[in-house]
Amino acid sequence: MAKKLMILFGTETGNAEMLAEDACSSAESNGFEAEVRGMDEITVEELCEVQRLLIYCSTWGDGEQPDNAQDFFDAVSECSASDLTGLNYGVLALGDTAFDLFCESGKEWDALLEEKGANRLVERMDCDTDFEDDAEFWTEQSLEKMATVE
Ligand SMILES: Cc1cc2nc3c(=O)[nH]c(=O)nc-3n(C[C@H](O)[C@H](O)[C@H](O)COP(=O)(O)O)c2cc1C
Repeated sequence: MAKKLMILFGTETGNAEMLAEDACSSAESNGFEAEVRGMDEITVEELCEVQRLLIYCSTWGDGEQPDNAQDFFDAVSECSASDLTGLNYGVLALGDTAFDLFCESGKEWDALLEEKGANRLVERMDCDTDFEDDAEFWTEQSLEKMATVE
């Protein structure tokens, strides 16, 4: 049976969404049953059932979550410490080194999921404005690791 993979994006101007869609196509080519959703299109209850997760999330304002991610971030923050024990995840953070709080939102997701008991299967990558090649590389590596999760 195909392995399921959830791909979530937090975005304001579409970069993270584009990367998430690309990751979904690659995942499907590699035999996953993959699904892409905005962070405003999933509940915490659904997240608790997920085994494999890739997050693509940009940072806005002054180190803040993008608009479609803030409510979900707050909801996950309310989970108890062991709610996400079955979850294997990786975070790709999008940002711009011109800002003081570079890739802060992605860093927050990476830390939050670990705090809630999830397993960081893939090390986070923090991407500057020329993210395309780095992101593609990260996605390929991440899919290889996700494929090892039974
Ligand atoms: C108004 C504004 C605020 C931003 N604030 C930050 C920030 O605090 N830290 C950071 O690393 N990047 C920041 N960025 C850069 C975005 O995260 C970056 O452009 C990203 O690629 C946008 O991805 P998205 O289209 O998925 O939202 C900011 C960009 C804009 C236009």
